[in-house]
Amino acid sequence: MAGLLQNFRNTIIVSVVLALILVAGYRVHHGSTDAIFWQGVFRMIHVFSGILWIGLLYYFNFVQIRMMPSVPAELKAGVTKYIAPEALFWFRWAAVATLLAGIVLAWNRGYLVQAYTLGALEGFANPQTVFIGVGMWMATIMFLNVWLFIWPNQKIALGLVEADADAKAKAGRTAMLFSRTNLLLSIPMLVTMTMNQTLFG
Ligand code: HEM
Repeated sequence: MAGLLQNFRNTIIVSVVLALILVAGYRVHHGSTDAIFWQGVFRMIHVFSGILWIGLLYYFNFVQIRMMPSVPAELKAGVTKYIAPEALFWFRWAAVATLLAGIVLAWNRGYLVQAYTLGALEGFANPQTVFIGVGMWMATIMFLNVWLFIWPNQKIALGLVEADADAKAKAGRTAMLFSRTNLLLSIPMLVTMTMNQTLFG
C-alpha cells in the first residue's frame, strides 16, 4: 500500500478505477446511458477539474503570492523554477477541462445559449438562466484571465521566456493582479454553481 501511495501516477490510476466502478454501479442502477446519466458523469468531471483549477488558484493566492516576499533570495528559485511552473501546468489545463465540461453540462441541461445570453432570449423571465448565466460568465472571464493574462505574464515573470529584469517585475505584478481578480470572482461564481440546482432544480 505504501508503495502505491508513494507513486503519484499509480495513486491517480487507482482513484480513477474506483470512480469508474462507482459510475458503472450508477449506470446499472439507473438502467440507461441516457442524457441524465451523462449529466451525472459530466457534473463529476466538471467539479473535479473545477476543484483542481480553483484549488491551485487558492494555493497561489492563499500561500505562494503571500509568502514569496518572506522567502530568502537564495531559495526563491526553488519556487519559481520548480513549483510554480508545475502548478501552472495543472492550473491552466484544469481551467480548460472545467470550461469544456461546464459547457457540455449547460448544453445537456438545455440552457447553454439562454444562460450565456443571461436570460435575455427569454425576456429575463427565467431566473435560473440569469442566475447560472452570471456564474458562467464570471467563470468564463476567469478562464480568459488565465490564458490571456496570467499564463503569458507568468512565463515572463518566471523566466520561461527571455525578458529583462524590468519586464519580469512588471509581468509578475500583472499576473498577480489578474490572479487576485480571479480570487475575487471565485466565491460569487461558486454561489451560482453550487446553489443553482438547490434553488431551481
Ligand atoms: C469555466 C466556466 C464554467 C461553466 C461554463 C460552468 C457551468 C456549469 C453548469 C452549467 C453547471 C450546472 C448547474 C446546474 O444546472 O445544476 C455547473 C455546476 C457546477 N459548477 Fe460550474 N461552470 C464553470 C466553472 C466552474 C468552476 C471554476 C467551478 C469550481 C469548482 C465550478 C463548480 C461547479 C459546481 C460545484 C457545480 C455544481 C454541481 C452540482 O451541484 O450539480 N464551475 N457549472
